[in-house]
Parts: sequence; structure tokens; C-alpha cells
Amino acid sequence: MSKPIEAFIFDLDGVITDTAEYHFLAWKELAKDIGITFTKEDNEELKGISRMESLEKILKLGGKENDFSKEEKEQLAAKKNEHYLTLIQNITPDDILPGIKPLIEEIKKHGLKLGLASVSKNAIAVMESLGLKDKFDVIVDAAKIQHGKPDPEIFLTAAKLLNVETAACIGLEDAAAGVDSIKGAKMFAVGVGSEETLRKADIVYSKTELLSYGNIIREFEGA
Ligand code: BG6
Ligand code: MG
Repeated sequence: MSKPIEAFIFDLDGVITDTAEYHFLAWKELAKDIGITFTKEDNEELKGISRMESLEKILKLGGKENDFSKEEKEQLAAKKNEHYLTLIQNITPDDILPGIKPLIEEIKKHGLKLGLASVSKNAIAVMESLGLKDKFDVIVDAAKIQHGKPDPEIFLTAAKLLNVETAACIGLEDAAAGVDSIKGAKMFAVGVGSEETLRKADIVYSKTELLSYGNIIREFEGA
């Protein structure tokens, strides 16, 4: 008998839509404001990481970790979010990455549950702009968890709310921290991005358009 599969749990930024790029641009702008050079390579480490933890990492990168009070850090994080909100204001369903809609349709067609696990405080607004919010059975965002990725809490919470076993879940992620979170929750991990960054995933696709429901299920059953 084949292994039971009950749910798919998606990350949002960088998997469903290209907001990972907007997070990068917004941090780059903020870093420039405070005299820190921030590159796309540096950004890899920030993917999947909460807003305040990301700021701490950027300050450390620039050797400025002791230069700001807690209140000033809150202001800096708020400023980054303002840059980010400007960038995402025109998001529409056309911004859903290729391959995602067909995958969601297959998941639904097979009667599986669908969850979202995003540490972003903007997750619900982005899902609404994409016209996807109502397609998901459960959305777990920053408001529902204590510990961000790589802690497994967010994927465990999604499985719990979906009322499914973690071993019967497949998680999708574009971030190394996210893959760690999925594996920590004892789920099958699908990575989207570079093999090297996502080496702990069970299977990696270089881009979303290559995602294939049939292939993912075959790999899951063979794992
Ligand atoms: C994650 C992104 O989904 O959300 C991170 O990968 C981002 O880059 C984090 O920092 C928090 O997002 P927000 O919208 O709460 O600042
Ligand atoms: Mg992501």
C-alpha cells in the first residue's frame, strides 16, 4: 500500500509569489539608509527569517549591532516594512509564480488539504491580493507562532490545525531556514531554488514552473 498523503503546506514569499525579491529590495534600501552594503548573497541567509531577526543580522553584517536602541530598531524595522508595502501595493493574481496554480488545482482535485506557513506579518494581505486566501484551509503566519523558521513550530502548527499527521504532509520552501523547519517537523520537503542552498530538502526544483504534482507524490512515496 502506498504511503498516505494528506496535505501540502506552502511557504509564501519566494514560493507562491516573488515577494522574496521585494523583501530583498526593501532591506537593501534600509541598509543603504544606515550605511550598510547588503548584497543578494547576504540576503540568502535572511530568507524565511522574521523581520526583527533579519534586521539584527543586517546590523551585525555592518558591524552596527550595538549602535541602536530597541526603540530605534523597531523604527528601522517599520521603515523596511514601509519600503516593502510600497513594493507590494500592486500585487495581483498575475503575480502568482508559474506552476503554482496548476499544482494547487491538482492538490484540490485529489482531495488533499492545503496550508500556508509564512512568518510574514503581511502574509494574509499578500494572499488576499493574489486571490488565494480562500483556497487555503489554514494560514499560519507570524501572529500564530512564538518561534520563526528554522524552528519547526510553524509547520507543526499548520499540520495540527489541518488535523493531519506530519508524516503525511509535504512542505514547500525556497529558504534553507524553511527546509530546516519542515524537516524538524518530520515532513517531506520540496525545495524551490538552488540545490546547494536547499540540500537538506528531499527534492529540489530550480523553479516553480518545474513543480509537478505527480513527480512530487512519486518521490514522497519512495522516500
Ligand atoms: C518571510 C520572508 O516569509 O517573511 C522574510 O522570507 C521576511 O524575508 C519574513 O523577513 C517576515 O516578513 P514581514 O512581512 O513580517 O516583514
Ligand atoms: Mg520563502
